[in-house]
Amino acid sequence: MTEIREGQSVELLKELHILTQDGKMNQDSRRKLKQVYHLYNFIEPLLKELSENSPTLNLVDHGAGKSYLGFIIYDLFFKNLHNAHVYGIETRNELIEKSQVLQKKLGFKNMSFINSTVKESQSLGELPQTVEMVTALHACDTATDDAISFALQKKAKHIVLIPCCQAEVASYLRQNKKFSLANPMVELYRHGIHTREFGSHLTNILRCLQLESFGYDVTVTELVGFEHSMKNELIIATQKNKHSKNAKERISALLSEFKIQELQNRFYSS
Ligand SMILES: C[S@@+](CC[C@H](N)C(=O)[O-])C[C@H]1O[C@@H](n2cnc3c(N)ncnc32)[C@H](O)[C@@H]1O
Repeated sequence: MTEIREGQSVELLKELHILTQDGKMNQDSRRKLKQVYHLYNFIEPLLKELSENSPTLNLVDHGAGKSYLGFIIYDLFFKNLHNAHVYGIETRNELIEKSQVLQKKLGFKNMSFINSTVKESQSLGELPQTVEMVTALHACDTATDDAISFALQKKAKHIVLIPCCQAEVASYLRQNKKFSLANPMVELYRHGIHTREFGSHLTNILRCLQLESFGYDVTVTELVGFEHSMKNELIIATQKNKHSKNAKERISALLSEFKIQELQNRFYSS
């Protein structure tokens, strides 16, 4: 059964419609809370390690939406810490404004919500020079790739991604299929639906190699309980400075095998 955890703000859970106004568990939201807790179980040990070893703890959540994840993480972990801050980056200003209202109401002072694209947030002065953790939960399409670039630029120690479907790689596969007809590998994505799914799959493989090429240890697992089967892949990358010597070569080989070398810059650089 989904529990309300010790010290958790009942007011926050009501505002997020997880609890009804009379304090009962809202059955429709129980599933959502269970999913966020499940994700939090992966994130909590990483946060503990950072809070013990790092003088600052800045977490940036990209494609924050209603900042459900950011609020729960803040409430469970950040609210009693010093030198710790949660930032939510989101393009929809109405969601930013709502989050700011809720943040003030709850007195969660070390939170900021910024109306920006992930890409543009890389050059925003209001974000710190280094960030210890980057999360992106179902950030649409290439926003996850921009979150990776952001994390590399900010030298994030941990990167936690649950990618959404990415359309860019599939569009290049589709466009360049004609050059691969003699290659039996084209069977993997000959049909339209396979192009889309294989494109998303290949994207995540390239993302993992990119992270490895920048010294990260990468684990990929399934976040059971998420409703969309294509969107439940959890990628956790931890900086270990063990630069994989041939990760770049493996990226190149894959791009060349599938005749999509135009995407070199997307997966090769930070
Ligand atoms: C599927 S929602 C996920 C929201 C939230 N992370 C969650 O899991 O509940 C994706 C969010 O990313 C935002 N978004 C899409 N592209 C973006 C971009 N390039 N930069 C920042 N936000 C973006 C959308 O407006 C939307 O709120």
